[in-house]
Amino acid sequence: MSRITLTPSQTQFETQADETILEAALRQGYNLPNACQSGMCGTCVAQVVSGEVQMGEYDDCALTDEDAAAGMVLLCACHAQGDVVLDLPAYEGAKAIAPRTMPARVAHIDVRGKMALLRLVLPKSPPFKFYAGQYADILYKGTVRSYSLANAPSDNGVMEFHVRLREGGVFSPALFSGSLKVGDVLRVRAPLGAFTLNENSDKPLIFIATGTGFAPIKSLLHHLRDTQPSRSVHLYHGARDAAGLYDEAALRELLYQLPNARYTPVLSRADDAWQGARGYITEHVLQDYADLSGYEVYACGSMDMIRGSKQAFVEQRGLPETAFYSDAFTPYV
Ligand code: FES
Repeated sequence: MSRITLTPSQTQFETQADETILEAALRQGYNLPNACQSGMCGTCVAQVVSGEVQMGEYDDCALTDEDAAAGMVLLCACHAQGDVVLDLPAYEGAKAIAPRTMPARVAHIDVRGKMALLRLVLPKSPPFKFYAGQYADILYKGTVRSYSLANAPSDNGVMEFHVRLREGGVFSPALFSGSLKVGDVLRVRAPLGAFTLNENSDKPLIFIATGTGFAPIKSLLHHLRDTQPSRSVHLYHGARDAAGLYDEAALRELLYQLPNARYTPVLSRADDAWQGARGYITEHVLQDYADLSGYEVYACGSMDMIRGSKQAFVEQRGLPETAFYSDAFTPYV
């Protein structure tokens, strides 16, 4: 057993030999920054201050050789070799909301083609709190599926998820086929993840989302409406076709409440009837903004989109690396 200490939060927990540092932290209720949990995205990066860790497999894009040589590690891909002190300023320690497992009743299922909007209600006590942008694990018939919360943190006791139909899966087919019904009770574990808004800033925001990556962005928009309604925001939502803009009516209603909001839907395979932007959202951001040095970008979608947009915005438009916040997801089967 090894003891892990995180600075500057002074959080301490123990790890077993057979678990990664991230697994140990989550098991004990410490909600450290993470997304892919497989060494692909770089969200869980930390700096070793003292002690040794053994790194397993990871993608070079998540941690460069230079960063590794400088003592940086991915918490989802490393095992402690004795006691370790790690610098992880992104983790707020006691201020972070501890995740818990709880029952949740299905209140509403709205199937829209291959997308479904699912609303769950939670027990009133103790009240459920989360930060906009976080996600929940849904525990269903022995599987665990992670979905971002799409609603406002101010919606007491409610969770909204956007679920794409994945043929051959367990959870999404149950939702689309009707075998999971209003009134059924699931178990959920939440809140999880660290894709949250930097509220110590008033920089203009660019939100980019592809597919159901729109869900956490919608939650961030709700939160902006509740806390910083005048903050400038430009949302790009990318999809293959118009059906991929599955929640546009609710989005437009939300944007109406944000006086400095712009919205650019971008379709990659639009039919001739489409009057709006075509292609890929990264290209449209590059076309629209010559200089991103004074912006913050929040990106949610596929790993490829996130990697490509970060590289382009940092290298071509001067976006500070620390001003790029992302939540990458891997589709479930
Ligand atoms: Fe660790 Fe993605 S690289 S969570």
